[in-house]
Amino acid sequence: QQTAPFDYIIFGATGDLMMRKLIPALYNQLRVGHVPEEARIIGSARSKLDNEEYRQRAREALNRFLPDAHKDADLIERFLKKIQYIAIDSTKYESNWGGLKEILAQSPDDRIRVFYYSTAPQLFEAISENLHAHGLITKQSRVVLEKPIGTNSETARAINDGVSRFFEEGQIFRIDHYLGKETVQDIIALRFANPLLQAVWSGEYIKSIQITAAETVGVEGRAAYYDTSGALRDMIQNHLLQVLSLCAMEAPSSLEADAIRDAKVNVLKALRPIPEEAVSAETVRAQYVQGTLNGEKVPGYLEELGEESHTETYAAMRAYVDTPRWKNTPFYIRTAKRSAHKLSEVVVTFKEGTSKLFGGTPGADRLVIRLQPNEGFGLSINVKNPSAAGFGLQRTALDGRFAPADGSLIPDSYERLMLDAVRGYPALFIRRDEVEAAWAWVEPTLNAWAADKAPMEHYAAGTYGPEQARQFTAQTGDQWHEDM
Ligand code: BG6
Repeated sequence: QQTAPFDYIIFGATGDLMMRKLIPALYNQLRVGHVPEEARIIGSARSKLDNEEYRQRAREALNRFLPDAHKDADLIERFLKKIQYIAIDSTKYESNWGGLKEILAQSPDDRIRVFYYSTAPQLFEAISENLHAHGLITKQSRVVLEKPIGTNSETARAINDGVSRFFEEGQIFRIDHYLGKETVQDIIALRFANPLLQAVWSGEYIKSIQITAAETVGVEGRAAYYDTSGALRDMIQNHLLQVLSLCAMEAPSSLEADAIRDAKVNVLKALRPIPEEAVSAETVRAQYVQGTLNGEKVPGYLEELGEESHTETYAAMRAYVDTPRWKNTPFYIRTAKRSAHKLSEVVVTFKEGTSKLFGGTPGADRLVIRLQPNEGFGLSINVKNPSAAGFGLQRTALDGRFAPADGSLIPDSYERLMLDAVRGYPALFIRRDEVEAAWAWVEPTLNAWAADKAPMEHYAAGTYGPEQARQFTAQTGDQWHEDM
């Protein structure tokens, strides 16, 4: 439902995320009636633009990134009127903070203010300090921090400490857009709203769980950021460990933010450490080389980058959650750029049946939760093969969709998250202890990779990853989904 009136102040407002995601998300939320008439959006960045010039950029972004079904020319103009722009060098005390103050002073004092930092994380502390120094942080203020929160435990701690000097933990919303995906939240629904699945959701019945986020894109215009990050920092430390936490957590006591976050952080803390000497056995890293994708030749990572690099564009890890529920059940997590398909999914492979009735063991049941695309799930089970002599078995799949019942499109993850920050509902944001526990677990791998203690493998663009990734799952008696 509609939120209370708010002022959304976004730093980094000329950036790609703002145009591609944040502006379309706020527009869509206005379209479905969740944004109140009084709401205002104030974009800020260093470029000198006036309101009209900025609105023109926003208009172009809406035309480019909204699905046709959501474009409504009148509504777009109404939405654009809500937007103002102010040029500020957010790291400088003497920049035009007075101008921002004037804009904000036009709203009642108790208006909800959301400061969204869509900037490099090195700026988070300075922006907070300047907001504070100019008296712009009110009791009704919150701050949204974009990822990455640091590059390791130490830098994450410094960023968290820096922002905490000016905002209470309850005012800080660390975004992980995977949690805003409706289908990622479906993991909670599937697990805890269905006794059928709840009864078998443990290492006693589950053989392994694999979590994949594969993309066909390379690093495009983001090489400068990506090359300092790599697949492990960019996707695993945050998004995929969050998905893993939802798959492995105990039932939270409620859907209150801290109940969910307590349940998740318990998983992150129970991840069995991978000591540096075990990294080459428990992980795979790789870079894509030239290959063919959708019928077109695409260059390799190093060619795109134009220089030598030890940054991985593919990462796979084997994780164990040391809680009574999971014992020695492997969780495989992997992510890739320039993969054969864009696909994020969770594959739950159950243990094979032991019945001797059918001669041989029946194939293992499998649940595939399709996070994107084709959002939904498939449950593959054994049935009788009617055309076989005797009592042969065949496999069939129950297919379910996560799409809204009214036929509308699934909302983008940022829509939900941006307004949850207004509502002050942090359940789908990451608490400080989660960020730090996730870094603590990936850090030995980052260190071992940086010291070249694991080989850098290669895979052709347009394939699922390096050959070594197959041997990697085979070592623990498993296969990747595409090979099943
Ligand atoms: C971002 C990463 O967090 O997630 C990008 O920085 C990646 O590299 C993106 O492309 C993937 O998000 P999605 O929603 O397309 O799976």
